[in-house]
Amino acid sequence: MTEPYLRVRNLTVDYGGGAALQDVSLQLAKGGRLALIGESGSGKSTFAMAIAGLLPRRARSSGAIEFPGLSHRPRLGKDIGVLFQDPSGSLDPVMKIGDQIAEVAMTHQGLGWISARVRAAELLDRVRIPRPLARLNSYPHEFSGGQKQRIALAAALAGNPSLLIADEPTSALDTVVQRHIVNLLDELVRDNGLTLLFVTHDIALASERADKIAVLYKGKLVESGPVAKVLGKPEHPYTKALIGTHISLDTPRAKRLAEINTDDLR
Ligand SMILES: Nc1ncnc2c1ncn2[C@@H]1O[C@H](COP(=O)(O)OP(=O)(O)OP(=O)(O)O)[C@@H](O)[C@H]1O
Ligand SMILES: [Mg+2]
Repeated sequence: MTEPYLRVRNLTVDYGGGAALQDVSLQLAKGGRLALIGESGSGKSTFAMAIAGLLPRRARSSGAIEFPGLSHRPRLGKDIGVLFQDPSGSLDPVMKIGDQIAEVAMTHQGLGWISARVRAAELLDRVRIPRPLARLNSYPHEFSGGQKQRIALAAALAGNPSLLIADEPTSALDTVVQRHIVNLLDELVRDNGLTLLFVTHDIALASERADKIAVLYKGKLVESGPVAKVLGKPEHPYTKALIGTHISLDTPRAKRLAEINTDDLR
């Protein structure tokens, strides 16, 4: 078997109030697309942030997060790009978007100022921001929510990372915009040969866009494997319940995972 891109072994994370993630082991192949699903509070973001190296200082973690194919410790921005649910979390409101993207390219690609600005315009074009050159000097508030997420994606890709971590990148957007962003993400991941870890509440989205699914339930990994296996032959009652709800992009947010009655599981 070829070496995985990412190997997580027995990862446990505790913020101080008990384990938010418990003994999770997972592997992800290079170029693989892993969807992490589970109800609110199940530990999805904790897992994603642990991989990105973005856990708060006070969080205590044990276990191993390894990148066997990298010769160095992965660096955020350079090896790992991160996209959050709220693009305002990754974009600085008082900095021109061209400068924000160019700064990543300068820091992680070693580009000079002019080349980095050119690269920023190219990336904005790539994420389909109209008239990208003219928009380099605009501020985040001058764009719509969907456009801001595209800009955040451009910034996440500016360091040319090999892994993209997207934590519910579309759940704050309306359905039509979500589709566009998801399609764009898909396209960029494939074109750039990126490995993708994405967190979603949306099982339909996971089944369409991922090749592997991992299901978290109360901080534990209850199921993981190829999409067809996990969704076609779910083993854990929670996964079965999840599939039974047919959650998709078209399901109103209020009707999503919170509605699964988990009392009789486990
Ligand atoms: N920064 C933090 N400090 C303290 N506790 C936290 C922190 N972040 C998460 N937790 C706790 O860890 C557990 C897992 O949370 P996490 O955010 O990983 O879940 P999630 O699956 O991403 O949920 P959601 O779908 O709502 O985003 C929860 O009990 C949560 O309250
Ligand atoms: Mg989360």
